[in-house]
Amino acid sequence: MLVDAFGREVTDIRISVTKRCNFGCIYCHDEGLGPVDRPRSPHEDEMSVDEVERIVRVAREFGIRSVKYTGGEPLVRLDMEEIIDRTVRHIPDVSMTTNGSMLGPRAERLRAAGLKRVNVSIDALDPQAFRDIRKGELAPVLKGISRALEVGLKPVKLNMVLFQHTLPHVPAMIDFVGHTDGLRLQLIQFMPELVGERDWDVDIDGVKKWLEQRADKVLVREMHHRRIYLFNGSEVEVVDPVHNAEFCMNCHRIRVTHDGKLKGCLNRNDDLLATRGLDDEGLRDAFRQVVANRVPFYGAYVKDYPRRHPADATPIPLESAPKV
Ligand code: 5AD
Ligand code: SF4
Repeated sequence: MLVDAFGREVTDIRISVTKRCNFGCIYCHDEGLGPVDRPRSPHEDEMSVDEVERIVRVAREFGIRSVKYTGGEPLVRLDMEEIIDRTVRHIPDVSMTTNGSMLGPRAERLRAAGLKRVNVSIDALDPQAFRDIRKGELAPVLKGISRALEVGLKPVKLNMVLFQHTLPHVPAMIDFVGHTDGLRLQLIQFMPELVGERDWDVDIDGVKKWLEQRADKVLVREMHHRRIYLFNGSEVEVVDPVHNAEFCMNCHRIRVTHDGKLKGCLNRNDDLLATRGLDDEGLRDAFRQVVANRVPFYGAYVKDYPRRHPADATPIPLESAPKV
């Protein structure tokens, strides 16, 4: 088990397999490395299936328990099924974050290869709002979600980035997940520092207050101490890392970039460690080193930031949030 100097055990690895994407979400931070490339751009820098498998095998040696694939958009790669098949030989708990637009036709094969769950980014159920935010079409994403549920990729977590443009769509999304078995909702705080556009930000603590007042029950997840709000039939998780020292203190995840660099924190690019061309012992050392450099971003790496006082937040009346 790898443990950093702050006692945080690394149990989870998030691997980007490409920087390419067929969407153009206006908020996209591309795993902290932005901007994403168009699908057809050259991709010689992407890791091969063998390279990905080797990283997973070494991660397994260090006791890492779960793998999440991400991008760009992982499904622009036609070998994702093969990557998953090789992954589950070492770490069976494998999931994928996808924009869902190409998921429908491949859901069954991905499941057969060993994929356990998917996160699908959705943001809005209104086709025009979806188009404005994602620069893509909603209908294939909805098909992807229902195919994923049909083949048993459960739960399907719907990712919704919370910012000015999506706020008015939250109540409808909560209804949607409440009416469909196997769906959960993740409300993800917009990270303005990775993309600019500070004025798109919304008061996430106000949103949490609104949820808290309506929820039947509130749970706390070990990963990042994220709050989970249970409603009659729906489960809503809030991912709110910005200026959140508690979140960072409970982060158990390391990352790998599409070109095989280890990355200890989403918000940092000064800790990247190239692993290509290293032998297995060199790769193990790189894992040890990246974990040794890990510090909680808010609290230890950034010491001077606006402190949050969630208890003082005013609930945001989402039912009447203005449309942007
Ligand atoms: N802020 C918060 N989350 C973001 N994502 C992408 N860009 C941002 C951002 N600026 C998240 C979305 C998407 C996942 C791949 O990354 O939730 O679903
Ligand atoms: Fe970025 Fe994901 Fe949107 Fe593609 S779908 S632009 S990778 S957030």
